[in-house]
Amino acid sequence: ARSSRVSLTVNGTRRTVTVDNRTSLLDLLREHLDLTGSKKGCNAGACGACTVLVDGQRVNSCLTLAVRLEGAEVTTIEGLAKGDELHPLQQAFIDEDAYQCGYCTPGQILSGVGCIQEGHTGSPEEIREWMSGNICRCGCYVKIVCAVEQTAG
Ligand code: FES
Repeated sequence: ARSSRVSLTVNGTRRTVTVDNRTSLLDLLREHLDLTGSKKGCNAGACGACTVLVDGQRVNSCLTLAVRLEGAEVTTIEGLAKGDELHPLQQAFIDEDAYQCGYCTPGQILSGVGCIQEGHTGSPEEIREWMSGNICRCGCYVKIVCAVEQTAG
């Protein structure tokens, strides 16, 4: 078969879609589910703009095949806020001014959430190391690391 049906949970909602077997999770999110918060920078695993969480693990959604995700739980930038209340790391990005153009920001934030959840926040160096796959062309790295550090407490 050239296409397959896949059922997965995205930001807490069960979704079932039929997609071409070559479809990436990024295209599934953006083109099939209208969740355009995850950005397509390089589409080749080199920039981190497409970062989401799959079963709590950080992944580059452009490199992840949608059909492999049967039963998976996906979290995107659209799923982080609780109603009107931003996720603490989203708030910290605003408070720290940790973005300029904003294109890399959803991926930075999901990567940062993974960093905090997995406890790689012992020092600014450790955060920088973890976040090194997320490229920011505006060069906001110092403030991005501050935002993650502040949120980790
Ligand atoms: Fe996926 Fe660049 S778009 S890493």
